[in-house]
Amino acid sequence: SQYQIAVIVGSLRKESFNRKLANALARLGPQDFSFKQLEIGDLPPYNQDDDANQAAPVQRLKSEISASQGLLFVTPEYNRSIPGVLKNAIDNASRPYGQSAWAGKPAGVIGASIGAVGTALAQQHLRNILAYLDVPTLGQPEAFIHVKEGLFDDSGDIGAGSKEFLQGWMDRYVAWVKKHA
Ligand code: FNR
Repeated sequence: SQYQIAVIVGSLRKESFNRKLANALARLGPQDFSFKQLEIGDLPPYNQDDDANQAAPVQRLKSEISASQGLLFVTPEYNRSIPGVLKNAIDNASRPYGQSAWAGKPAGVIGASIGAVGTALAQQHLRNILAYLDVPTLGQPEAFIHVKEGLFDDSGDIGAGSKEFLQGWMDRYVAWVKKHA
């Protein structure tokens, strides 16, 4: 594909709703986009002492990000912020200083929650981090996905109730990536 998107899911849980959302969103993308979920569960806890000698999983993460034309963050909200595993991935790939893998990569932020505010606070925290990392992040439309019956259909696609909204979100995300790539 012409546009490779690095997808970062903020949950390590096997049955993660956010992983399911990431899978379903990928299927709403156009032909010239491919979506790859990056592994973040095997990264070491970030330690600045390792900057000169980054572990293999960190090097892998950084090269996958560098090879991409865009980023898609799909994250749950943990205690009104982003999960620690996501922050750890962001920190690992942002170093050593001056060698961040994130800079300049256009991004979209989305998330699903069983709570009614649907990751709004986590997404705001994430936007703050991404702004510092010089990641141009799609502002609108915002998408705070409330997990409830029918969000996904039997094949794991987005259910009828949210399909049009999320297709619209994807179309805007695609345009954002193309504008910055
Ligand atoms: C949560 N959950 C949660 N939900 C929410 O809307 N706001 C929150 O602040 C939190 N906080 C929180 C903390 C921790 C440690 C856990 C484990 C969970 C609930 C959360 O939305 C729910 O567990 C989702 O299913 C997590 O996403 P995945 O793993 O399904 O992708």
